[in-house]
Amino acid sequence: MRHFAHPHVFSPITIRGKRLKNRIMSTGHDTCLPTNDLVNDELVAYHEARARGGCGLIVLQVSGVHETARYTSHLLMATDDKCIAGYQRLADMCHSYDTHIFGQLFHPGREIMETAEGIQPVAYSASAVPSERFHQMPRAMSLELIDEVVKGYANAAGRMQRAGLDGVEIVASHGYLPAQFLSPRVNLREDKYGQNKLLFLSEVFQAVRHKTGDDFIIGLRLSESERDPSGIQSEEALQAALALEHQLDYISITTGTSNTLAGAIHIAPPMTLKHAYLAPASIRFKQKLSIPVMVAGRINQPQVAEQIIASGQADMCGMTRALICDPDMPAKAEQGKLDTIRACIGCNQACIGHFHKGVAISCIQYPETGRELQYGKQLLASISKRVMVIGGGPAGMKAALTAAQRGHKVSLFESSPRLGGQVLLAQLIPARAEFGGLVTNLEQELRGLNIDIHLNAPADKALAQREAPDAIVLATGAKPYWPQFERNGSLDVLDAWQILQGDAKVGKNVVIADWRSDWIGMGLAEKLALQGCNVTLAVNGLCAGEMLQSYVRDSVVGRLHSLGVKTVPYARLFGCDDDTVYMQHSITDEAMTFEQIDTLALSLGHQRVDGLIDELKGIAPIYPIGDCLAPRTAEEAILDGLRVCSEL
Ligand SMILES: Cc1cc2nc3c(=O)[nH]c(=O)nc-3n(C[C@H](O)[C@H](O)[C@H](O)COP(=O)(O)O)c2cc1C
Ligand code: SF4
Repeated sequence: MRHFAHPHVFSPITIRGKRLKNRIMSTGHDTCLPTNDLVNDELVAYHEARARGGCGLIVLQVSGVHETARYTSHLLMATDDKCIAGYQRLADMCHSYDTHIFGQLFHPGREIMETAEGIQPVAYSASAVPSERFHQMPRAMSLELIDEVVKGYANAAGRMQRAGLDGVEIVASHGYLPAQFLSPRVNLREDKYGQNKLLFLSEVFQAVRHKTGDDFIIGLRLSESERDPSGIQSEEALQAALALEHQLDYISITTGTSNTLAGAIHIAPPMTLKHAYLAPASIRFKQKLSIPVMVAGRINQPQVAEQIIASGQADMCGMTRALICDPDMPAKAEQGKLDTIRACIGCNQACIGHFHKGVAISCIQYPETGRELQYGKQLLASISKRVMVIGGGPAGMKAALTAAQRGHKVSLFESSPRLGGQVLLAQLIPARAEFGGLVTNLEQELRGLNIDIHLNAPADKALAQREAPDAIVLATGAKPYWPQFERNGSLDVLDAWQILQGDAKVGKNVVIADWRSDWIGMGLAEKLALQGCNVTLAVNGLCAGEMLQSYVRDSVVGRLHSLGVKTVPYARLFGCDDDTVYMQHSITDEAMTFEQIDTLALSLGHQRVDGLIDELKGIAPIYPIGDCLAPRTAEEAILDGLRVCSEL
């Protein structure tokens, strides 16, 4: 049974004399969990969940090697001996599960996202070439500063080694400082670091090896191409790897850059990119290099990893969001319980989405992530209650699941023929079919528990009285919000649901009034443009997709541009007549007129479906959750389900 389905994934690999038990790794990823630059209980608990779940290697999130490396206000810093105790806790914990752990040595160069004081930083790079995405104009590093930073890498590695970590990885990927030295279009220096673009990295490796000796793993993370005209091109990356190979124990392949909006999409590739899309790039390195090659990028299932390793495309697979979403994935795969794996859907909403908001990492599907200290272990309730969950969208499903896990007797009533609620509509948006995986995963989890699920079963007072529950969890969702607006004439007005469900005829010239500024307005625009409509997306916000994680937004922005969708920001719906839509500029209130329009499409949010609150009053305590509590997204709905039922 063991190793049977995935013999390659579950075969060990030895790197510089250290035997890693399997080929599944969690690549470095910021969690926003650390406080005061240091490892804390939350971060240890977070990684413990992944080590316990069977992951072979954890590469810790980036640690700054110099004061000028603070690219956000909540990273780890390895610039002082006070960091050692925290790394040691992580090392001891990982080793107790036979999981290896490396640190990431990091300097962003000019790629500084934000500072603790909210001011613009003094950023440094190889040369004074601005960062396109973060709008920073860096200073060219002096020779003294280069020397200090190289020593910073070595000292940070020394601290990690003293703490018991098994190795370090130098982050030269994603356009960060070492990559800025490598790129002939960013490194315009005329000194020795300009004449030899490899020199900086080579000195870093030398200094780290000198500091740590022979018994310490040193790896490199590199973008196979930065997908940026001013960044490292694919042949340059390969040549750099070949030239530096003799100083390395492994290479971890990724792609893209922090420097451009398009390149940054690949830092955490959204569901628009294919599973394992970097395997073909990884094999280019694997064929030329003799050190182990690791690859990440939408490898979300063990079968996919098995195929990559078996076919010789890489030696290890980064399955980072797969582990954020399901820390137990390796153990489940090893035990052959593939059906129970909660596969990551590449939505980016709560992992990198939270990082960009500066809040603790989580997962839309598994809100226990990042909250391990609170929800890591579901304790059985002291009294088993009869819990009636009404509504089978994400909120109701997670509520039922959590209540059943805690030993309650749960019945779930859904008025429609299928579980899933609004997710069933959301998955109809172009290139978002994978979002439906959220329902598949929750259904699978429900199946493993003793829950009475009733479909086509609208709830009412008589039903609730018959059930005689101890608690009612109300997850009846929401419906499209139609605000008051001046409607004088015959123009066709449709809401997003009608269009997505496909039961409404849409005319040739369409204006979308998009207050939500999220997937729905953009998705309608793409769907209708693909059908041949002339589409204007009028957004009551700063830009289309304002509310979305930027990589998700930008991947759609590009497609809308290619499809010729016209986007108009700051547009508030005012009214319409026979063939004209009237908006107001949301700053000046001046009129914005869209003429010769056939259809006005509304993406104006939702309103609660909460009628049962009054009807069921007195039968049992009622807990509204999800959109029934307040219309938000699937993330809040699932978290509501967890929170409320963890307390019952
Ligand atoms: C929340 C988050 C933070 C990240 N931060 C880092 C980082 O600190 N260092 C790094 O090398 N990559 C970082 N990445 C990129 C990941 O290491 C990985 O390459 C990416 O998630 C793609 O792999 P996956 O599809 O298996 O998740 C981050 C990704 C996520 C989701
Ligand atoms: S939030 Fe979305 S992308 Fe991130 S780990 Fe969870 S499912 Fe994957």
